[in-house]
Amino acid sequence: MPAGEAAAAGADAARKVFIKTYGCQMNVYDSQRMNDALAADGYSATETIEDADLVLLNTCHIREKAAEKVYSELGRLNKLKAERAARGREMVVGVTGCVAQAEGREIIRRSAAVDLVVGPQTYHRLPEVVRKARGGHKVVETEYALEDKFEHLPAPRKAEVARRGVTAFLTVQEGCDKFCTFCVVPYTRGSEVSRSVAQIVAEAERLAEAGVREVTLLGQNVNAWHGEGPDGSEWGLGRLLYRLAEIPGLARLRYTTSHPRDMDDELIAAHRDLAVLMPYLHLPVQSGSDRILKAMNRKHTAKDYLRLIDRIRAARPDIAMSGDFIVGFPGETDADFEATLAIIRATNYASAYSFKYSPRPGTPGAEMGGHVEEKVKDERLQRLQALITEQQHVFANGLVGRTMSTLIEKPGREPGQVVGRSPWLQPVIVDEKAGEIGDIVDVRITKTGTNSLFAETV
Ligand code: SAH
Ligand code: SF4
Ligand code: F3S
Repeated sequence: MPAGEAAAAGADAARKVFIKTYGCQMNVYDSQRMNDALAADGYSATETIEDADLVLLNTCHIREKAAEKVYSELGRLNKLKAERAARGREMVVGVTGCVAQAEGREIIRRSAAVDLVVGPQTYHRLPEVVRKARGGHKVVETEYALEDKFEHLPAPRKAEVARRGVTAFLTVQEGCDKFCTFCVVPYTRGSEVSRSVAQIVAEAERLAEAGVREVTLLGQNVNAWHGEGPDGSEWGLGRLLYRLAEIPGLARLRYTTSHPRDMDDELIAAHRDLAVLMPYLHLPVQSGSDRILKAMNRKHTAKDYLRLIDRIRAARPDIAMSGDFIVGFPGETDADFEATLAIIRATNYASAYSFKYSPRPGTPGAEMGGHVEEKVKDERLQRLQALITEQQHVFANGLVGRTMSTLIEKPGREPGQVVGRSPWLQPVIVDEKAGEIGDIVDVRITKTGTNSLFAETV
């Protein structure tokens, strides 16, 4: 055996894991927690797939395209794994996340490369699963665990948190009981579970101690969070935000993604009262047509949504709205689509995400009649995105000349510059003299870029 390979084979103590993350912010958070769990078992994270002893694809099942990406990546991994085996070094390949939960053993049937499949509710068992897979077993763990994974996952490591930067995600709620007829999330993430106030506060304090300045609370239905308070009573998200606002060092709070039906008075009041709660809210409405909203099982009307936005804006006048839209849901007519454009005009978004409806196996939408032609979906998506882009520009241009707080996040691409984050999530490019990473400073916006703002120090 050549010396290099002997060294590699003997490098058991220093195994490396590479995690590729697809999908939403919760997957980003989960990948970090998986890294933390595996670190306790001696795995260090690597950014280079060729160096990895363990490769995990943390997958997304939300649309067909997202799910199919996984199989093309597995094709590449199959080759890499064979090359590695020829050199006498093992590479374990795993699929985690929402495709893992939705397809389970089928993934192993479709791809010979895969050694393990672990669903989102069992990440605390990952180190044990990896050990079994290294022993030559194919392991599938997609049962919902009886124990709470968060109780069993190691806390985020301080040094690692610091390395990840001054902003962080924190999952407070997972799963969904809403069953919108287009959506796989209730099937892939299971039913709604809220973490307790004590768990959340402890994790937030740990993040703050490691230098994190801005925390985004995550949940598939984050504003449906209802956790156990220290006194045993049930708290809502608004109350939790008041509590988190007291943590020293945490200067900014956000939460995502919200459902219009769960915006209660206390949460709206938090937007009025808490300066640390950033004036930016992602509140998807999906469609502006009551007929389509009903078919989607969203359980609110377009008018309900607009009235809600009025209440939120009354509480926090400088709040900027963001949303998600689906075009071409089964049965969507031209008139329904026009209603969606109308709700966008009425709301005025600072940003929004939009998607062509993708029928998902097992969801009621996929069984509905009246599927919309691909060509029509394309046209509608283009028109919708043009309108959103226009609103986004109007919003960004309206900031020119204004002074605003910016969290300095990282070095810029050009020497002498740093990149900050505006209250509305835009990257702000400013001279490095503005402050150190982690500082929150006032800057004046001088002009807009494609997706960013340029600013000068004040
Ligand atoms: N929990 C969030 C959404 C999670 S999925 C919420 O309730 O808002 C993120 C977005 O993907 C959704 O808001 C929706 O716009 C889009 N989406 C979900 N399923 C889809 C599908 N089958 N086809 C196209 N877009 C979809
Ligand atoms: Fe999916 Fe609807 Fe639940 Fe959001 S609320 S995760 S869109 S089912
Ligand atoms: Fe995708 Fe699962 Fe998130 S389906 S959007 S990774 S919850």
